Amino acid sequence: MSLDLDERQRAMLGEMGVRLFQPPLATRASPVVAPVQAAVAMAPAARPVPVAVPASLRERPAAVAAMDWPALREAVAGCQACRLCNSRSNAVFGVGDEQADWLIVGDAPDEYEDGLGEPFVGQAGKLLDNMLRALQLDRHNKVFIANALKCRPPDNRNPEPEEVAQCEPFLRRQVELLQPKIVLAMGRFAVQSLLQTNEPIGKLRGRQHSYQGVPVVVTYHPEHLLRNPSTKAAAWADLCMAAALMRQG
Ligand code: URA
Repeated sequence: MSLDLDERQRAMLGEMGVRLFQPPLATRASPVVAPVQAAVAMAPAARPVPVAVPASLRERPAAVAAMDWPALREAVAGCQACRLCNSRSNAVFGVGDEQADWLIVGDAPDEYEDGLGEPFVGQAGKLLDNMLRALQLDRHNKVFIANALKCRPPDNRNPEPEEVAQCEPFLRRQVELLQPKIVLAMGRFAVQSLLQTNEPIGKLRGRQHSYQGVPVVVTYHPEHLLRNPSTKAAAWADLCMAAALMRQG
């Protein structure tokens, strides 16, 4: 698989900090990206409305598993299954195309996302948008972006395992309703929720995983990429791998 990148896409990658070692477009003969085998109008959301979802972890998954999109949105907005509901401004359901091929899963909302009710709207979100644009994608077209945690942990602390577990039925149902062709897990808690593992991302990336029969590619969280620009090239390889798997779909 190869990606032929035009000037605009190359500029996007430049913004990501990914340098492509390739001849100019006019003289290029070979693929830009190695084969996958080798590569290894934001508006504040409504206030939460409590809905009739059983509180216990034993009963909630069955109720959530039967929900359609509107019921699921309502359930997330009104969720009181863990203490994160006490400190959130908005639950962050996710954004994008309900017929998406791509599901991007992040960790948990930050301050901006909590305020606006939309995932990835801060600096990390800008980088994610650039990464998507480099693949000729955007967050509203063939892409759905969600988080493993729908509510912000206060002071950006790490979520507790219980909080990840209480939110997992929502992500599971989003995957069932979307039936994406590829899931991109960005970050430690996305990985924990989807793959039920604490293995570090560095050990999980570069190969295909699976969730409910959907291929999953693991990569670094955009915030990690902002802090560690040298890992952007690896993330780009992961995105290329995900694109190839999506096409094989
Ligand atoms: N980090 C995430 O994982 N998700 C967001 O929505 C924002 C920051």
